[in-house]
Amino acid sequence: MRRAVGSAVSLRGLLEFSNICSCDCYYCGIRKSAPSLAPESRFTLTEDEILRAAGQCRDAGFGSMTLQSGERTDEHFIRFVEGVLRRIKRETRTSALPRGLGITLCIGEQSREVYRRLYEAGAHRYLLRVETTREELFRRLHPPTQRLEARIKALEAIKESGYQLGTGVMIGIPGQTTDDLAGDIEFFREIDADMIGMGPYLESCGLPDEELASRRIVPETDRGERLTLSLRMIAAVRIALEDVNIAATTALQAISPTGREAGLSYGANVLMPIVTPGQRRSGYQLYRGKPCLDEESEACSSCTPARAARIGRPVTVNGWGDAPHAGVRSVSA
Ligand code: 5AD
Repeated sequence: MRRAVGSAVSLRGLLEFSNICSCDCYYCGIRKSAPSLAPESRFTLTEDEILRAAGQCRDAGFGSMTLQSGERTDEHFIRFVEGVLRRIKRETRTSALPRGLGITLCIGEQSREVYRRLYEAGAHRYLLRVETTREELFRRLHPPTQRLEARIKALEAIKESGYQLGTGVMIGIPGQTTDDLAGDIEFFREIDADMIGMGPYLESCGLPDEELASRRIVPETDRGERLTLSLRMIAAVRIALEDVNIAATTALQAISPTGREAGLSYGANVLMPIVTPGQRRSGYQLYRGKPCLDEESEACSSCTPARAARIGRPVTVNGWGDAPHAGVRSVSA
């Protein structure tokens, strides 16, 4: 791993800027019809709130940020995101970061034209998890309107629009086998992913318990087993794909307080400190037991890099942190 990506850990401030979602993925706590989310808990941060978070990432030396939200394809939303991207690129330039923050977008399946527009507006990496490449499992986790085939088409469109491409899966989905996970890694290679974000499948807060059970999407293995499997999957991806970025995700920390550190030790090289304002965090609970819900963004901004330091890993300051795999397309700040 040191040979492929070095020992440094790259940081991206993770801003969960809206929990409004038009999808209904059964495992997800912000799905359109999640009973756990009251209508008044649905939010979209204002442009100024987003810019404030971006300024915080710049000042903390993260070099990059990830903008994540529920999926919306309406023109009003896309235009809003475009405007925000342009402002972030313009307003986060410093002598240490002459091209402004590096931006990863994570706003779901969009049309080819929209991917193109958002790329033009300044995002240069895009994250869209495939969740699982086994058709039967994908169908069990999603309503019939959501198709694995469409997800894969979207991933291809992202790549063709010029972005560095990120994808990933959940690990320990009921019924998922190690063969399935091996197939997922093959898929990452075929789609030519530059970044991988994966984490354990966690108990959902998106459906009442009886319905989770009847849909056969309650985890079948204990949390410790899912953590071990997730760490092994990180190691396997590092060995198989070598020079990609791999995130040590928040979900690892939902199982163990030092889950993200373990992720780094098994081969991950990216950490994403959450910079979502404290009062909005309870509204962005994707699964049960999500950590850092009570924290303010300043706390995560200092705590998360300290996790790398504690296990002896240096952090990159003021760099975009593109994966070497992105090769000639990679432009550093
Ligand atoms: N368990 C684990 N990960 C989840 N996500 C959503 N719900 C869950 C869950 N119950 C992940 C999905 C999605 C990402 C934003 O959060 O993989 O792509």
